[in-house]
Amino acid sequence: MGETIRVLLTEQEVDAKIQEIGERISRDYAGKQVHLVCVLKGGSFFMCELAKRITIPVSLDFMSVSSYGSETKSSGIVKIIKDLDEPLKDKEVIVVEDIVDSGRTLSYLLDLLKDRNPKSLALCTLLDKPERRIVDVHVDYTGFQIPDEFVVGYGLDYDQKYRNLPYIGIVELD
Ligand code: IMP
Ligand code: MG
Repeated sequence: MGETIRVLLTEQEVDAKIQEIGERISRDYAGKQVHLVCVLKGGSFFMCELAKRITIPVSLDFMSVSSYGSETKSSGIVKIIKDLDEPLKDKEVIVVEDIVDSGRTLSYLLDLLKDRNPKSLALCTLLDKPERRIVDVHVDYTGFQIPDEFVVGYGLDYDQKYRNLPYIGIVELD
C-alpha cells in the first residue's frame, strides 16, 4: 500500500514560525545562555533551524528515547537509548521536540530531567495535537497547533520515511 503526502504547512510557513520562536527565546533569555536538548530523531531538524535563529549563546545536547509499547500507542514509560553527554545542573534548559501528541513521553521525560536540577526547564515543540492529549504537559513554546492527523516532514517520519521533507504534510494512504 502506498501513500501520498498532502501539504499542511509550507516550508515558508514553518521557516517564518521558527524565526518567530527563535526571536522569542532570544528575548525571554536575554543575558543568559540556553542549553537546547534535542529528542532524537524527530526533533533534530527543528532544533538545528531553531538554534540558527537564536541570537544569545546556545549549547546543544541530544538524547534518544524509546517508549515501551508500539510506536503508535506509547505507554509513557521511556527507555533511554542514548543519554545526554553533559549534566543539566544550573543550566537554562529547553527541551526541543517535533510534536506533542498524547504527552506521555514528554511528561515522563520532563520529570526525569527535572531531577537533574537544571536552573530552569522549558519545553519547545514545533507541533502540538491538543485533541490527542492524555497526560497534561506544559508547553512553553508551540509552533503550530494541528488537527488530529498523522503528519510527516521536518524530522517527523512515517515508517522512517519523509523526515527530510522541508515542509509538514499529512499522510494519506492510497
Ligand atoms: P506522545 O506525546 O508520548 O504520544 O508521543 C509523541 C511521539 O509520537 C512524538 O515524539 C513522535 O515521535 C510520535 N508522533 C506522534 N504523532 C506523530 C505524527 O503525526 N507523525 C509522526 N510521529 C508522531
Ligand atoms: Mg519525537
